[in-house]
Amino acid sequence: MRKLGSKKIGLVGVGNMGTSILEGILKNNILTHSNIWVYDKISEKAKNFSKKTHVHIASSIKELCQKTDVLLLGIKPQDFSDFASMNKSFLKKKHCIISILAGLTTERIQKALGKELFVVRAMPNLCAKVGESMTILCGKNRGWLSYAKILFAGCGVVAVLPEKKLDLVTAVSGSGPAYFFHLMELMTDFGVKQGLPEKVAATLAVQTGVGATLLAKGSEFSCQALREKVTSKKGTTEAALNILKQKKFGKIFHQALRAAMRRSRALRRRM
Ligand SMILES: NC(=O)c1ccc[n+]([C@@H]2O[C@H](COP(=O)([O-])OP(=O)(O)OC[C@H]3O[C@@H](n4cnc5c(N)ncnc54)[C@H](OP(=O)(O)O)[C@@H]3O)[C@@H](O)[C@H]2O)c1
Repeated sequence: MRKLGSKKIGLVGVGNMGTSILEGILKNNILTHSNIWVYDKISEKAKNFSKKTHVHIASSIKELCQKTDVLLLGIKPQDFSDFASMNKSFLKKKHCIISILAGLTTERIQKALGKELFVVRAMPNLCAKVGESMTILCGKNRGWLSYAKILFAGCGVVAVLPEKKLDLVTAVSGSGPAYFFHLMELMTDFGVKQGLPEKVAATLAVQTGVGATLLAKGSEFSCQALREKVTSKKGTTEAALNILKQKKFGKIFHQALRAAMRRSRALRRRM
């Protein structure tokens, strides 16, 4: 895995996503703890994370900005306006802002924080927690885009797409883990209703999800080809898949993804 140079990075918001990303970077030695600063308005969160990882704690955003070259924004989208108006003046002219905030456009970030700042947007997903995020990046500055590619490789797979694709990406991979959780939830429910203890039913569902995912990831075959391989004529799998086809599961699922995409657009417009 490639390493990052001596640039210092500061995390604003020591929450679920920010800590998962930094833990991946540290675990893979992409950056050392001495190059990382964190700040959260709840100081306990920063303290606990620093205790675990030995990263520096900044006592304010002002200090975080003074000590770093890159700010990783890990706050919620609804907290951005207050953050921007209170802290804009602390940013250095050449700071790079890497934002994981859903829906917040580059234009909006630059308008709120400064047009001369470099901005990279990233859309990771919850699987960053186990180093298996699918992260989509977009940004205009090649150097900072390369930097972000190395950074996010620490918590999974990275790809670059134009910013206009981010609503689509949010619907597919941003929200994606929840669709898989739902499928495993439905399989577990069925197992329980048909007489399995809940723990056993959940293990069956989750381990099957893990196995299928690993098979698909390492395979030279497409998901469609893999599905066809395990579906023997007049067999049990075919019986199940026929019902999904009859009930138009594919069409319904695509409708669901379209709804997520519409919601992402609507949230962006409201910001
Ligand atoms: N979760 C996902 O699957 C996912 C996927 C892709 C992208 N994202 C994006 O990731 C971002 C973070 O999500 P998360 O789930 O990690 O959120 P989170 O766990 O709530 O973490 C955000 C942290 O930032 C703190 N905070 C708020 N305003 C602050 C400020 N001005 N200065 C310093 N700290 C501040 C929050 O404190 P309080 O709790 O007191 O407000 C909280 O501790 C969101 O913008 C989301 O759109 C999430």
